[in-house]
Amino acid sequence: MKVVITGGGGFLGNQLCRKLQERGTLTGPSGGQEEIDEIVLFDAYFSPEARQGSASDPTLLSPALLEADMGDREAVFSAIDRDDIAVFHLASMVSGECEQRFDDAMRANLDGGRYLLEALRSREGTPRLVFASSVASFGGEVMPDCVSDSTKRTPQTTYGMTKVIGELMINDYSRKGFLDGRSARLPTIIIRPGKPNAAASSWASGMFREPLNGEPCYLPVHRDQLHPVLGYRDVIDSFIALHEADPDLLGDDRAFGLPSHRISVAEAMTILEQVAGEAEIDLGMVVDEPDPVIQGIVDSWPTATDGSRALRLGVPEPKPVADIIRDYISDFLTS
Ligand SMILES: NC(=O)c1ccc[n+]([C@@H]2O[C@H](COP(=O)([O-])OP(=O)(O)OC[C@H]3O[C@@H](n4cnc5c(N)ncnc54)[C@H](O)[C@@H]3O)[C@@H](O)[C@H]2O)c1
Repeated sequence: MKVVITGGGGFLGNQLCRKLQERGTLTGPSGGQEEIDEIVLFDAYFSPEARQGSASDPTLLSPALLEADMGDREAVFSAIDRDDIAVFHLASMVSGECEQRFDDAMRANLDGGRYLLEALRSREGTPRLVFASSVASFGGEVMPDCVSDSTKRTPQTTYGMTKVIGELMINDYSRKGFLDGRSARLPTIIIRPGKPNAAASSWASGMFREPLNGEPCYLPVHRDQLHPVLGYRDVIDSFIALHEADPDLLGDDRAFGLPSHRISVAEAMTILEQVAGEAEIDLGMVVDEPDPVIQGIVDSWPTATDGSRALRLGVPEPKPVADIIRDYISDFLTS
């Protein structure tokens, strides 16, 4: 079978590709495990590192890279060219970018998502689709501190709005039998390697990454800021668990909030110091540099998630934050 990962040039797309290369199979149209014989990474841009990383192990299936825009309908349809196909839809403009470039956000996140659903609909059978949604689909005055799958979705960002619409379209395309979709509603995923990005949550990785790299971290939010976080290995395992879940167990709402740790910046710093001590790493400093725009966006988000529905479907319990830091050191600092 073929697997397409949109956003395959990004952080999670890259990690997911690696995991699927190692795993080698997924549930296919037969209902049983089928060998993955083709992987396509679809992305608007592949950095030199992403190009190199995707083909770094010659013993594993090498993915094809399709550099194209989700807003290009023909390009999206060209990627969905087999009936025995599964799609992980991770391509998205991030929250900060969507606030600044409304028209691009509508094209990339909404039009692109719909082209993908239509392309899957045009195939025989009901191909499985896993969509990366976000806790940014919640917000505003009605939002409780801890969100669950029964919390009303009233996003206060353009990014969050596109994620809610994506979830709703997937529910309806699945109800109609056009495809078999599942949405994972992600909290903030730590620890993203590389440089800070334009996500309003970028500091949540930066407060670990920059100090571990021996560099200063400029913190835009206050130190008692609480935030829901999940490790990158757990989210990749969650995407695969949702893909594999029995369709009869999904119910009529196919959007599943993932579990997370509710942690303050100050608590995160204490755990970081302990793990860095074990690994004999000299940490860079965390410097308070409040940013009212970032703080305002973060204030509109929940601080905790109830992932009980997703856990019942088989997604993993979140690893402790100390283990996430140890994974990052072993995957990105010592390689
Ligand atoms: N990382 C997190 O903390 C987090 C939290 C909540 C939700 N998510 C969601 O998970 C998914 C993956 O996140 P990530 O951290 O890997 O982000 P990322 O920014 O590293 O990857 C997203 C990829 O999408 C690509 N992309 C953007 N617009 C595109 C377009 N028009 N056409 C084609 N490709 C396009 C980007 O080039 C990028 O490589 C995204 O949908 C994101 O919204 C992530």
